[in-house]
Amino acid sequence: MPELPPSPHHIAIVMDGNGRWAMRRGKPRSYGHQAGSEALKRTVEAVIRCDVPVLTVFAFSCENWRRPPTEVRKLLDLFLRALNKDVRELHEHGVRINFIGERSVFNPSLREGMAQAEQLTCGNQRLQLNVAVNYSGRADVVAAARRIAAAAATGNLAAEDLTEARLNEELTLAHLPPPDLFIRTGGEKRLSNFLLWQIAYTELHFSDVLWPDFGGDALEEALIDFAGRERRFGGLSRARSA
Ligand code: IPE
Ligand code: IPE
Ligand code: MG
Repeated sequence: MPELPPSPHHIAIVMDGNGRWAMRRGKPRSYGHQAGSEALKRTVEAVIRCDVPVLTVFAFSCENWRRPPTEVRKLLDLFLRALNKDVRELHEHGVRINFIGERSVFNPSLREGMAQAEQLTCGNQRLQLNVAVNYSGRADVVAAARRIAAAAATGNLAAEDLTEARLNEELTLAHLPPPDLFIRTGGEKRLSNFLLWQIAYTELHFSDVLWPDFGGDALEEALIDFAGRERRFGGLSRARSA
């Protein structure tokens, strides 16, 4: 029997290109963000069809506050509306939603919407969907380092007991395996401060498709690319070790 191509357990996506998608149509950037939220729904359905159990998406970075306040406001409004509109459907699909990132800065209605979505879907098992909002990889590492420093200061952690595994425990997504496949849409070839620690050995796939056009076909392309990769984790391939 031919060996089945490996499929990823955890996919991480930087959903980029909404603004350019809208501008190419002579529309405001917020039109692109709206279309981007439809693309996320399509992609979640496609990921479920492909039996991938964990998906982590970058929706809003700590650096995105640098955008004009009107765009930020529209983005967050849209996020709240999508929470109210789409969560039930995601729940029916068996999606467990979890938000990562610093949510204390958001207004109470947004925080409440996030907490309700997490609560409603907490028993679902088909797909774990992590949505990163006001998240950055460096902030994640700093928050972990702070907790480690506090434990050390109170005598609860000796310097020599600080291992990779111990630091990892303090980071976002510690309870999940790290992403196998990282996808960035929109043509830019950079990480933009997403999941830095967690993607040390993740396979990177960059797609020129703008996020609002992403869906099953573009996902399949990424999965085919992934299936052709050889993951060595610093070791040797079968061919090279022969
Ligand atoms: C991604 O699309 C959405 C967010 C960063 C919130 P962009 O808004 O970055 O779109 P482009 O990259 O300007 O086209
Ligand atoms: C990355 O996209 C952040 C999200 C998709 C949420 P950006 O558009 O903010 O990234 P840069 O500015 O091109 O690096
Ligand atoms: Mg962008």
